[in-house]
Amino acid sequence: TTRRLTAIDIRGRKGGEPIVSLTAYHAHTASIIDRFVDFMLVGDSLGMVMHGLETTVPVTLDMMILQGQAVMRGSKRALVVVDLPFGSYEESPAAAFRSAARIMKETGCGAVKMEGGRHMAETVRFLVERGVPVMGHVGLTPQSINTMGGFKVQGRSEESAAAVLADADAIAAAGAFSMVVEGVVEPLAREITARVPIPTIGIGASSACDGQILVLEDMLGLSPRVPKFVKRYGALGALIEESVAAYAEEVRARSFPGEDNVYQPKR
Ligand code: KIV
Ligand code: NA
Repeated sequence: TTRRLTAIDIRGRKGGEPIVSLTAYHAHTASIIDRFVDFMLVGDSLGMVMHGLETTVPVTLDMMILQGQAVMRGSKRALVVVDLPFGSYEESPAAAFRSAARIMKETGCGAVKMEGGRHMAETVRFLVERGVPVMGHVGLTPQSINTMGGFKVQGRSEESAAAVLADADAIAAAGAFSMVVEGVVEPLAREITARVPIPTIGIGASSACDGQILVLEDMLGLSPRVPKFVKRYGALGALIEESVAAYAEEVRARSFPGEDNVYQPKR
């Protein structure tokens, strides 16, 4: 029998074999990646990938719950972590708890993730003390695009690096079981990882982290444009194009449906 990995399992992987993770938004891809990843993230990047939004800011709690349910149905082994979307947690620890509890009750997922550093530490502690495993997210935090002035790599200056480091310390001290470190320069990722007692999950943050995450559609080659930190392991966009072109041609030539795909009366 297989049991799902838990936040505690992931916490225990600090400094060990690197933690493997990817995003997942729907049942079939979740079932394919389930045996390869330690956890899968139902990320609010689904706003861009599934809905064509420009940023993650418009993503709602209902959107996260719907996709979280699909991913839980499609997987059975990996821990499933669901993002708290913009506007569902920042206002107060109580608001964050209500949102996190809804996600956990309605999806059955094992943890939630929230963006933010020192200013969110009190909220992280409030949730953890009340039974919600929290993954942090520091460095480049896409929900803050409107105050950061764009998707910018963090920690290039000493001042910026010190701020991210303080954020990471605060989130770890508040009881997060792990944290995503996004879009930071390599020496900073190395320093954070050496310093915090919980696993760091890097995205655009070098191999110094305790694990890695990528957006599945980005690494599969399905997303039209990807940032420098993405490696494309597949060419799914091209494969879809070829397949659809072949289908269109066969329909127009009446060679599809052929004999194999047609029903005939009993004789
Ligand atoms: O929403 C997302 O996909 C994420 C990861 C890339 C860390 O937050
Ligand atoms: Na996210």
